[in-house]
Amino acid sequence: MSEAKVWDRLAKSYDRSVRLFDRSYPRVRELLHADLADREQVLEVAAGTGQFTFDLAETVGNLKATDVSPRMVQRLAGKVAERGSGNVETEVMSAYRLDVEDGSLDAIFSANALHVMQTPERALREFHRALRPSGRLVIPTFLHAANWRARLLSWLLGVVSPFVAHTKFTATSLKQMVADAGFAVREPIVLPGKFPLAYLVADRVA
Ligand SMILES: C[S@@+](CC[C@H](N)C(=O)[O-])C[C@H]1O[C@@H](n2cnc3c(N)ncnc32)[C@H](O)[C@@H]1O
Repeated sequence: MSEAKVWDRLAKSYDRSVRLFDRSYPRVRELLHADLADREQVLEVAAGTGQFTFDLAETVGNLKATDVSPRMVQRLAGKVAERGSGNVETEVMSAYRLDVEDGSLDAIFSANALHVMQTPERALREFHRALRPSGRLVIPTFLHAANWRARLLSWLLGVVSPFVAHTKFTATSLKQMVADAGFAVREPIVLPGKFPLAYLVADRVA
């Protein structure tokens, strides 16, 4: 099943189900303000229903919040309209084919997403293309191979739900994949939770 179809199915219950795993999200919200302050042209990839969109909107100039699932974007667009966030646009967009000019973005933010993509390397190549030299990538990512508990829970989730973590990252393997895509990677901050989450910041190497 395509990524868009899987997530269209999960869209209605997403806000409820994400609460099971969002222990690390308050800390991510604090960190992203510092790491993305005053970036002008910013793209959020795999925004879902907007768990971080409104924090980003407070801190950056112009934000385009995107997701491959039309139903996720529909829910997100509803929230944007409700809150009247004037600097946020929403759009259906795949991480594998960003509808932006080469080197045009100051930053990309993508949370809880790289591990659910079928080919995260392809998304990272697109992020590299779309960012300007020294442009910033912030990707808080759940680590489904961080320890045996995370591996077991990941397997169970795959059995009882349509959710699949295609890449079971450790902090080291995530860091390596991002570096291989042409980024200077900061040591990730690993936050505790049912799945530990690596808060990873990287800058595009020129
Ligand atoms: C676990 S949710 C994360 C949503 C939100 N960022 C959050 O932290 O709550 C993963 C999101 O990735 C999106 N997604 C999956 N594959 C994608 C792709 N290839 N391009 C863009 N979005 C994708 C899904 O539609 C879904 O909304």
